Amino acid sequence: MRHLMNPLDLTVEELDDLMALADDIQKDPKKYSHRCDGKILATCFYEPSTRTRLSFESAMLQLGGQVLGFASADSSSAAKGESVSDTIRIISCYADICAIRHPKEGAALVAASRSTIPVINAGDGGHQHPTQTLTDLMTIHALKGSFNNITIGLCGDLKFGRTVHSLVNALVRYDNVRFVFISPDELRIPGYIKEDVLEKNGAEYSEVSRLEDVMPKLDILYMTRVQRERFFNEEDYVRLKDYYILNKEKMSLAKEDMMVLHPLPRVNEISVEVDNDKRAKYFEQVQFGVYIRMALILTLLELV
Ligand code: NCD
Repeated sequence: MRHLMNPLDLTVEELDDLMALADDIQKDPKKYSHRCDGKILATCFYEPSTRTRLSFESAMLQLGGQVLGFASADSSSAAKGESVSDTIRIISCYADICAIRHPKEGAALVAASRSTIPVINAGDGGHQHPTQTLTDLMTIHALKGSFNNITIGLCGDLKFGRTVHSLVNALVRYDNVRFVFISPDELRIPGYIKEDVLEKNGAEYSEVSRLEDVMPKLDILYMTRVQRERFFNEEDYVRLKDYYILNKEKMSLAKEDMMVLHPLPRVNEISVEVDNDKRAKYFEQVQFGVYIRMALILTLLELV
């Protein structure tokens, strides 16, 4: 039985297979519409979510399976003090596969260690969010054709942004990927990502605080929201929340074929005036998230 905690749980070859499967699902969804007949996906979300939870549910429903779960800690027995490890033992009796999101780093791993069904980490605190990374990779692959020889700028809350941590983990495995980390000083990419992931893999990276300065050299700009829920005080959040606002003027500095991604939800960091720019791909990105989650469910349930 396999779980997905971190994008590195999948080899590059397995990632390729997953994307090929997602591609095929996109081309001919009917072929897959009964693959999960009789199977149940549980979504256990202890933290707010729109896309991740609903895209998992949509993915399972489109495969012919069924879904159950909860959308907040308040509406589960966590409110009565039940531990994650007890909850997952219970869920294992009700479902065939589980996607879990929790505010604490490592919670999904605890669940996986107690579970008798495959567990997917749908976000654990400020740590990892592997299925958003699968979504990001599929979007880059579909729209750019390759992961090699790209300069990617990651901008915003690089300290608490788990989607950034997971994406960096996944991209260092490709050739000649250059990372530009764009953040205020307080929200820089964590030291462990620099040492254990970037430097260990010999990846080229730089850290800057002005988006305008690096805009012309980027092939991809990955914008992120300042993660209010992970701040210790509101004052710091208020000071930093509008540090970057991508607008038409900044877009005019970018390459013609640059691509803007964002895991969403967006707050103020991308002005709505950018939405109509042909380089804005964040809404397309959402659709890829459903296909790749369909492919992941099939793979973990060994129904491929
Ligand atoms: C991200 C998350 O939950 O980490 N959202 C998502 O799953 N698409 C990004 C965010 O909340 O800012």
